[in-house]
Amino acid sequence: MRRSPRCHALPLSVLLAACGPAGTGDTGEVPATTTGATDTSGDAPTTTATATTDSGADAAVTYYRDIKSILDARCTQCHTPGNIAPFSLLTYDEARPFAEALADSVEAGTMPPWPPDNSCRTYPHDRSLPDGESELLRAWAELGAPAGASSDAPPVPEAPGDPIEYDVELALAPYSPTIAPDEYRCFLIDWPKDEESFVTALDVIPGDRQLVHHVIAYALEPKDVDAYRALEASDPDPGYLCYGGPGGAGNSVWEIPWLGAWVPGTTGGAMPAGTGLRVQPGSVIAVQMHYHGTAGAMPDQSRLRLRTTPKVDRRAVIMPFTNLDWVLGIEKMHIPAGEPDAVQSFELDMTGVVGFIFPGGPLTEDAPFVVHAAGLHQHTLGTRSTLEVVRGGGGDECLLDIPRWDFDWQGTYEFAEPVTVNPGDRIRVECHWDNSAANQPIVDGVQQEPRDVGWGEGTGDEMCLGLMYVTAP
Ligand code: HEC
Repeated sequence: MRRSPRCHALPLSVLLAACGPAGTGDTGEVPATTTGATDTSGDAPTTTATATTDSGADAAVTYYRDIKSILDARCTQCHTPGNIAPFSLLTYDEARPFAEALADSVEAGTMPPWPPDNSCRTYPHDRSLPDGESELLRAWAELGAPAGASSDAPPVPEAPGDPIEYDVELALAPYSPTIAPDEYRCFLIDWPKDEESFVTALDVIPGDRQLVHHVIAYALEPKDVDAYRALEASDPDPGYLCYGGPGGAGNSVWEIPWLGAWVPGTTGGAMPAGTGLRVQPGSVIAVQMHYHGTAGAMPDQSRLRLRTTPKVDRRAVIMPFTNLDWVLGIEKMHIPAGEPDAVQSFELDMTGVVGFIFPGGPLTEDAPFVVHAAGLHQHTLGTRSTLEVVRGGGGDECLLDIPRWDFDWQGTYEFAEPVTVNPGDRIRVECHWDNSAANQPIVDGVQQEPRDVGWGEGTGDEMCLGLMYVTAP
């Protein structure tokens, strides 16, 4: 069946643009924060030197007794030597000079990176600090960052749960980015399985942790493989440049099957229990790499690890959605030049279009579906986005609220409690952008003039897109 465009279902360009370009040269955030850290490391030793010459064992808050376990649990996924964060927090000597910066960053909510607002709902992979830990970091800094006695250190906690056993490993071609500071490049890898299988966990082992900023994987269906291979062949380097998604090949409009996204510090990578994403034999995995760094850096060779099973209780799909009228140009997603808070929103009943978006199942038209995880997507002018269910019977339920949109830390957030969406319910997405003069990209050292911005996949265009990981009930 085919519905009219009014059904608001989702075309190719949306899928293709799901993680669009940021290659406008706007690196404002990273250098700014890195500089912040450097400044602080310059100040901190003067305030801490005397207090730390002895161990400060009787201080009210000490590194070994109170702080080390916080840093180990919440910070060292990223703050280790050679990792994505600009300094290591593994040892006392490494942490001490940053004592004040650590407290500042957690109070400001910038660290650890955790974009969702937790008052919206509960997410089991929440990275934010439990109550009281921010206060401990502040108190420790104010006391001059005393070490305390190493014998006070709490035992290293056991790694939680069973480790995931990955059975498929896919290596990307080695590649040195040629575009700085941001290059988006897709690599195609043949899917090695001869039978239908379901991906139940996905992880990325970055080759160069300082270079790899985010990774999105798609499973391209066998019928589309030739078109993507042609795209690859048209680029002389390994893989091919791609912005939003796996690129402009093929016509599998509704079905470009997402396998998942990875950003630094991601732990786990398992899909909700009992669910998985189907991959057919003969498929090709497209892996979009976002390299952030200097051109000509050492070659990166990242690897993807997947856990597969021949069957799952419930097959899942990743459902992207937006306002089709924007995509088709029927309506403008207008973000006026100079506007510091441009707002756009849309609402739609997705239960009516699932058969169109996913013709091969697993969802039934006009029947409920269950949302297990959700994400939002904007480009670099984005400042805030929210995703909620407007219940047919009245009332709203918040699924995801990203109060400070950051293009570099996009993710999909699993819910502690899955949410059932019924026919008559509408999914509502609202996006905000700052298109004022102060928020424009810097190109070759020159801040650009604001201009009217609309929907698109290109550099300098914007998007407002929701993503949901869904199954049948
Ligand atoms: C998921 C990865 C990740 C985790 C976890 C993480 N950081 Fe960071 N941190 C970064 C990155 C990357 C930067 C560099 C700036 C940026 O990209 O935002 C950074 C920068 C910083 C800075 C420099 C100033 C700033 O705010 O940007 C401080 C201070 C900091 N982190 C403290 C912490 C503390 C304290 C924790 C744990 C409570 C922590 N970080 C956890 C990735 C992480």
